Amino acid sequence: MSLPERVVLVGPMGAGKSTIGRMLAKELGYRFLDSDRIIEERCGANIPWIFDVEGEDGFRQRETAMLDELSETQGTVLATGGGAVMRPENHALLRKNAVVIYLKTSIEQQVERTRKDRNRPLLQNDDPEGVLRRLFAVRDPLYTKLADIVMFTDRKSPRLVVRQLVNRINPKTPRHKRQRRKEGSQHVPGTQRA
Ligand code: S3P
Repeated sequence: MSLPERVVLVGPMGAGKSTIGRMLAKELGYRFLDSDRIIEERCGANIPWIFDVEGEDGFRQRETAMLDELSETQGTVLATGGGAVMRPENHALLRKNAVVIYLKTSIEQQVERTRKDRNRPLLQNDDPEGVLRRLFAVRDPLYTKLADIVMFTDRKSPRLVVRQLVNRINPKTPRHKRQRRKEGSQHVPGTQRA
């Protein structure tokens, strides 16, 4: 497999999409994009505020528009929000010119990694674990269906996950060549500029 134009990370809250995405982008010499952070920047407000004022529906509309825009990028690693798979119209946008990676994580790990977080409106209630379980039941089949690669992240350091992903995405590229790509210009060989 030669390097894809885009790498898209899907998976539940607490799967490590942002941490792993940033490291993977560095390793591939790609630009890292985080759809939730870009939505927040554009909106000038954080996600809890958007949920509060516009409801989840308002947020999902912004999310679809963002995924549409970012589906045109090249040489990018995109971390998506955990609910990005919920709208069927998002599926083609996620898959467009991309290798889709599902970062699969146990409920226990999701609970542990999101425990102190106040930026995830869906978990600000008495039973965040129950919510994560219910979301997993609905979303796991969708993540799995969309993904080219399913990668388990439990009990693995982000470094190990990234190393395993690089090998899965492009097993034939030796490390020194990836390094050269990283040191080169912004342009990623094998892709066109936007
Ligand atoms: C959501 C996940 C969040 C964010 C929003 C909704 C979800 O992103 O998009 O709070 O529906 O699972 P992370 O998966 O990055 O936490």
